[in-house]
Amino acid sequence: MSDFDPARIRDDFPILGQEVHGKPLVYLDNAATTQKPEQVLKVSQEYYSSLNANIHRGVHHLSQLATAAHEDARRTVATHLNAHRPEEIIFTSGTTDSINLVTNILSRSGKISSGDEIIISGLEHHSNTVPWQMLCEQVGAQLRIIPVLENGTLDLDAFENLLSSKTKVVSVNHVSNAFGTVNNVIHICSQAKAAGAITVIDGAQSIPHQVIDLQLLDCDFYAFSGHKVYAPTGVGILYGRYDLLAELPPWRGGGEMIKEVTFDHTTYNDPPYKYEAGTPNIEGGIALAAAFDYVNNIGINAINAHETRLIQYASESLSTLPGITLYGPENRVGAISFNFDGVHHFDMGTLLDQMGLALRTGHHCCQPLMARFGITGTLRASFAAYNTIEEIDLLTAGLNRALDMLR
Ligand code: ALA
Repeated sequence: MSDFDPARIRDDFPILGQEVHGKPLVYLDNAATTQKPEQVLKVSQEYYSSLNANIHRGVHHLSQLATAAHEDARRTVATHLNAHRPEEIIFTSGTTDSINLVTNILSRSGKISSGDEIIISGLEHHSNTVPWQMLCEQVGAQLRIIPVLENGTLDLDAFENLLSSKTKVVSVNHVSNAFGTVNNVIHICSQAKAAGAITVIDGAQSIPHQVIDLQLLDCDFYAFSGHKVYAPTGVGILYGRYDLLAELPPWRGGGEMIKEVTFDHTTYNDPPYKYEAGTPNIEGGIALAAAFDYVNNIGINAINAHETRLIQYASESLSTLPGITLYGPENRVGAISFNFDGVHHFDMGTLLDQMGLALRTGHHCCQPLMARFGITGTLRASFAAYNTIEEIDLLTAGLNRALDMLR
């Protein structure tokens, strides 16, 4: 969009104006967490200063207001994702919580048993690996892994060969947090469905960068964290297809998730409440809706076009640096990961920090992926709507300076 102006967007983010070690902050760790605009901070503040009460638990005025605001937020999220109905939207504490919810309800359901198989990919974050390993240990199922090709994309031929009547679940990320690889989740979900498997998408790194249309993705579950998309930490979403949510058993027991409790027997509430035991992060849910309003005000397609330009520019600039290896395919989204010959990513990250440049270093919670490439970690620059071309120039200059110091 021609009137997209990162300078104007930056004005909404007070934290970006600060200096770090006497240098202007260049925040390039958005895949770890994004900063929060004033519009979202204001909603959080207003919630606690004028609305705070527990939800679904009181006839009193404030409780009614807080409940209405929270249910409005659920509707906003459902609309943003193009879900069929708000009841398909479960508030969680984040992607990890959402995926653990799925693995635990599947475990309790008896739908997966000894000899069954679950497919994930070699590009997954630990949060989409370990919960499935735990489920496999519980029920005696086998974990199968879609291999990663040398260019950081998934081997989809190998995926098709892995699929069989034993496959009960396929769970992959939409965008890799480590390499920025975009997975063809429409294809993966359709193949998985044809094999009769339940499909789960980890959307933590796609939700900030592109339109998410659940009807198009046609997955059974889609998980993400609010804090990756300009909302606070501690709130996330699990979308689940309604008929599955209605059929599967709950996981955590407590208040809100019940219809009737006696000491002999408990009956459970309808979705989504069946999966929302305990007092949720009420403020977080409302702030997440405000973050979606913020994104939609700018336009997710305009953000996407800007970030694509940033990534392309960063890929071109960084590839001129001596001894660099860039990981992942050229059409990466959100993040660019790299290493330099003879330089430890941690040393480089420490020097960049002294220059005000905030990047993530390490294995990015993807140790199997790092092992696949024979490395212990990478440097990763990751982008948001407020980043600029000038910041990428500062990164390139900073990397050049650090290389001079380290070599
Ligand atoms: N998953 C987050 C990252 O990639 C924390 O940095």
